[in-house]
Amino acid sequence: MAEITAHTRIAVLLDRVRVEEKLLLQAFEARHIPVDVRDDRALILDLDAHRRKETTDTYGRGEWVRYAVVLDRCITHARAVAALRILNDWGICTINPVDVVETCGDKLATSSALVRAGVPTPRVMVAFTPEAALQAIETMGYPVVLKPAIGSWGRLLSKVNDRDAAEAILEHKQVLGSYPHHVFYIQEYIPKPARDIRAFVVGDETICAIYRYSDHWITNTARGGRAVNCPVTPELHALALAAARAVGGGVVAVDILETQDGRLLVNEVNHTTEFRNSIDTTGVDIPGRIVEYVLQVAAERADQGES
Ligand SMILES: Nc1ncnc2c1ncn2[C@@H]1O[C@H](COP(=O)(O)OP(=O)(O)O)[C@@H](O)[C@H]1O
Ligand SMILES: [Mg+2]
Repeated sequence: MAEITAHTRIAVLLDRVRVEEKLLLQAFEARHIPVDVRDDRALILDLDAHRRKETTDTYGRGEWVRYAVVLDRCITHARAVAALRILNDWGICTINPVDVVETCGDKLATSSALVRAGVPTPRVMVAFTPEAALQAIETMGYPVVLKPAIGSWGRLLSKVNDRDAAEAILEHKQVLGSYPHHVFYIQEYIPKPARDIRAFVVGDETICAIYRYSDHWITNTARGGRAVNCPVTPELHALALAAARAVGGGVVAVDILETQDGRLLVNEVNHTTEFRNSIDTTGVDIPGRIVEYVLQVAAERADQGES
């Protein structure tokens, strides 16, 4: 395998330095890997500068080919997709690749990918008008969960218990919601224990998992959910890896719901996950493991270049 050398340059693409980004940058530093922080707020990408053979290729591909890997940590989904699309089209390796980010950033795309791959997941129906959505909800049976296809941190999730609530929420979405809210994502409600599971997958490994306990049905730690270590059983690993592969693999966090009869269902897959609450809880050096994976991919790329 090719050596990771002091010439192995990595870029971290971000729009805000959160705790997670600090920990990742420290993990690179600890391994003496030079890293450029590329802030997407200052980003200009000149699509075909390299074809025009300009002498100063400040904004084009020439600026990026020096990086063995670009690690994406952008919070703003649309920016991440736009930047990664261009970088990937330029042949730059990104973690994660644009297809993974596009799929994970959109719950509808994630659900469809999980179904395509045969990964167990709650039932999902999609409709495009309030009338059709109401019909879909009544077909599925109450309660259901309505979610914005693009969103996170448990925001704008609705558990709909009856027809009155369904009509009100659908009308609100239609009248007050922006255009993306007019695609109605309707998911079966899973009466889970007072917790869900988040499994961290890096490459082919489920490196750790947490339970997120909450008195509320929404268990995100951003909403007060309490993280507790969850043992990675062979069953959990197999499911998390299958979900990761269904969306294209890489570095992802898989949200899993437990059913009352003991089955595990994949709720969603996240691509730029927060992990600050999970390091001490699990005893696993999550940023270190992500950085090791980035360097492994960089080395594999270098090998391919050599051969
Ligand atoms: N269908 C469902 N049944 C039961 N609980 C759910 C369901 N969907 C979401 N939840 C709860 O809400 C949380 C947030 O939902 P999720 O789909 O992961 O959205 P987000 O992207 O905002 O995290 C989940 O972690 C889980 O606790
Ligand atoms: Mg989630």
